[in-house]
Amino acid sequence: MSNARSEAPIASGGASLSDEAAARILRAEAARAGTAEAVVAAAARTAEGLEEPPLIEVDDVRYSYGSKESRTKRSVLKGATAAFRRGTMYAVVGASGCGKSTLLSLLGGLDLPKQGEVRFAGEPLDAAGLAEHRRRNVSFVFQGYNLIDYLTAAENVSLATKLPPLPLLEKVGIGPDEARRNVLALSGGQQQRVAVARALASEAPVVLADEPTGNLDEVAAEGVADILRDTAHRMGKCVICVTHSPMLARKADRVFRLAKGRLIKA
Ligand SMILES: Nc1ncnc2c1ncn2[C@@H]1O[C@H](COP(=O)(O)OP(=O)(O)OP(=O)(O)O)[C@@H](O)[C@H]1O
Ligand SMILES: [Mg+2]
Repeated sequence: MSNARSEAPIASGGASLSDEAAARILRAEAARAGTAEAVVAAAARTAEGLEEPPLIEVDDVRYSYGSKESRTKRSVLKGATAAFRRGTMYAVVGASGCGKSTLLSLLGGLDLPKQGEVRFAGEPLDAAGLAEHRRRNVSFVFQGYNLIDYLTAAENVSLATKLPPLPLLEKVGIGPDEARRNVLALSGGQQQRVAVARALASEAPVVLADEPTGNLDEVAAEGVADILRDTAHRMGKCVICVTHSPMLARKADRVFRLAKGRLIKA
């Protein structure tokens, strides 16, 4: 990996802030996104003994790859049902190839189920609404990072927020030097953390994370898991992680196992 710095300017002006300042900015961001009000509303509902309605849910969702005519048709989801709420971190676990990434792509509006429904705030996602759902409601941390490879780390984060990117990157352990580097000049684990910072910077109330700690050492993995948990608990977001990591699953408030195409509470 080269250490060459990108010539492209970054949005923040460069000075790094303390953790406290970064936390203040995150809180302001939460308030701007309306999530703070949602947390207060959720607390009021809990006090009244009413359960928070699901923010996003899958209802008897079926999905297969390949066409009916093709011999290679493969059913992956066979009636998956689950509800996901704000202020909660979820882990979805299951064997490799069981359909975890497929489930995330349906929650994220990248495709529609063949049968059943995905609903956001009680409304079914339909073909017309998918682009809007992807733009407003969800942010992704993909298994393959999905960073823009000709931009710096800071510029990638700036795509998701008007806030200065350096404090957000610092929260996931990316210093100002790495923040100004083209993302291809970062290690796999550093790129993973940039992807996490970008998802957290977004105003979207749902964070969908595919193996967010997959390329990290134990310490960094735990740090990212704690940040995701804080994002759920302090910013009131609905964080859904698919993972093979027992550590990440332990940090989650609720765990689902995906097996034989269905979701089971673990
Ligand atoms: N585009 C595709 N075309 C055909 N089959 C696919 C496609 N994408 C995934 N599959 C198959 O669907 C099944 C579910 O894949 P998926 O990526 O959802 O699994 P996963 O649970 O995320 O696995 P992993 O833990 O290894 O990431 C696998 O058998 C996979 O080979
Ligand atoms: Mg996967």
